Amino acid sequence: MEKKWWHEAIGYQIYPKSFMDSNGDGVGDINGITNKLDYLEELGINLIWICPIFKSPQIDHGYDISDYDEIDEMYGNKDDLKILIDEANKRGIKILLDLVVNHSSDQHYWFKEAIKNPEGKYGKYYYFKRGTKDTPPNNWRGIFSGSSWEKVGDENSDLYYLHIFTKEQPDLNWENPELRQEVYDMVNRWLDFGVAGFRVDAINHIKKDFSYKNLPSDRADGLVNGINYFNSEPGIEDFLQELKRETFDKYDCFTLGEVDISNEKLINEYTNPITGHFNSAFDFGQVHRNIFTENCSNTVDFMESIKESLFKTQQRVGNNNIRLTNVIDNHDTCRSVDRSVFAEDKNFYSATMLVGMNFFLKGIPFIYQGQEIGMTNFPKEKITDFKDPTTLRQYEEMIGLGKTPDEAFNHLNQKSREHARTPVQWDDSENGGFTTGTPWFEVNPNYKEINASNQMKDSKSMLNYYKKLIACRKKYNETFVYGNFRPVFKHIKGVLGYKRNNIFIINNCTNKDIKLKIKVNELILSNYDEVNFSKRTLVVKPFQTVIFK
Ligand code: GLC
Repeated sequence: MEKKWWHEAIGYQIYPKSFMDSNGDGVGDINGITNKLDYLEELGINLIWICPIFKSPQIDHGYDISDYDEIDEMYGNKDDLKILIDEANKRGIKILLDLVVNHSSDQHYWFKEAIKNPEGKYGKYYYFKRGTKDTPPNNWRGIFSGSSWEKVGDENSDLYYLHIFTKEQPDLNWENPELRQEVYDMVNRWLDFGVAGFRVDAINHIKKDFSYKNLPSDRADGLVNGINYFNSEPGIEDFLQELKRETFDKYDCFTLGEVDISNEKLINEYTNPITGHFNSAFDFGQVHRNIFTENCSNTVDFMESIKESLFKTQQRVGNNNIRLTNVIDNHDTCRSVDRSVFAEDKNFYSATMLVGMNFFLKGIPFIYQGQEIGMTNFPKEKITDFKDPTTLRQYEEMIGLGKTPDEAFNHLNQKSREHARTPVQWDDSENGGFTTGTPWFEVNPNYKEINASNQMKDSKSMLNYYKKLIACRKKYNETFVYGNFRPVFKHIKGVLGYKRNNIFIINNCTNKDIKLKIKVNELILSNYDEVNFSKRTLVVKPFQTVIFK
């Protein structure tokens, strides 16, 4: 396999609003990231993905872009970004931006013009379709629930535009070559600017199947889940190959698709090293799971199903090791330490085992900000404490489906993605050292105990364990990047074990000791001080990770 710089990537995801505020306005910014580069270098990562920093009304916190060529003032400006890229490069760290081109903001110039004249040039940049005065063109339910169509004009109008996320995020019409060219030119401008590539947002939705009108509804709202009609539809490959040809192929860049790769065909289409649309795609097998909302009665069954899913994906990618990006946390889900084990099992060992089991799989590991210090959910008091349109919409929807306000609130308090968006807890000073102003989103009050500064001083902290994990990956780089993968002890309930070449990664996903027969030579790393190993028997402690040669 031809070696590329990003094969050895160890990624770190930044949600810029909540990472570090450098100017006291309560919102994280680009200079805040630059100020924390030493911290990130010391952690050991070498690739950063920054969630959208472009000009945006912030309805979906930056995933609604009103100018693709400008940085939103609250984050700084292009000069700041240049400095960040240069300073990061000096430390061997590359910067990825977030490419959000399934939709724009309704405040984008294109859309504002389109609304004025849906028949004109910019009308063709979006999907305007006719329904009737009372019914939209079809009954698709959007990803953030509710109809995917919004009416244009007065109540007698029969014209609608498509938005599969919020109504402030109209979908871009990829069928229009003029729109596609605008996108390619913009992508090339950013690559020329010096970014190392992109995480590509919601890109499997850019092709829509409009070949029917209404479908039988699947809920009382009369709508039908639209995802089946805008998820990797036939023909999407032409758009994505053109995108690749016109942009990425001309640069030594890295692209990471936020796409559904839940079967072999999709994995191959998206990430085949030669013909694939992107270099890598996320395996969401561990992220999109929540022990509470899945009504699991015990941790073991939950972990067994995660094991099955991770292993299936590992085996599906065959020998092409780098195709996957492995994550346990991101900005779209609550914190892993809160969603993966029951309260009585929440501790240092379970939190570190969750990453230990994932970090050495085939693929590129990404850490989400705050994960390395074990940041937790911050339960809210009432529904209005949430700030995310999807949370509020889901709440309305649950009420509509007959849940009581308490039930709906409790459910969201357990699973809302906003738990991941509280500011990073840097130290025990006011607001966790995130800002000297009023934070845009309340800091989790547990910052007094859980913060980076405390953990830097404590050799047994989670932060220092993460440093060891990263150092271990780097030390055995060839094995973890290019080595083969083989499950071990697969049929022992509660054990998630695998071998990468000659290195064993054994995880006990239960709160009891597990005895294993195993022949190994040298201990590399564990999240416990002691490893109980004698005469070819290993006793793995509750939630212990052991890495052996
Ligand atoms: C992606 C982002 C998510 C956003 C959505 C719409 O899934 O990760 O945060 O809300 O796209 O752009």
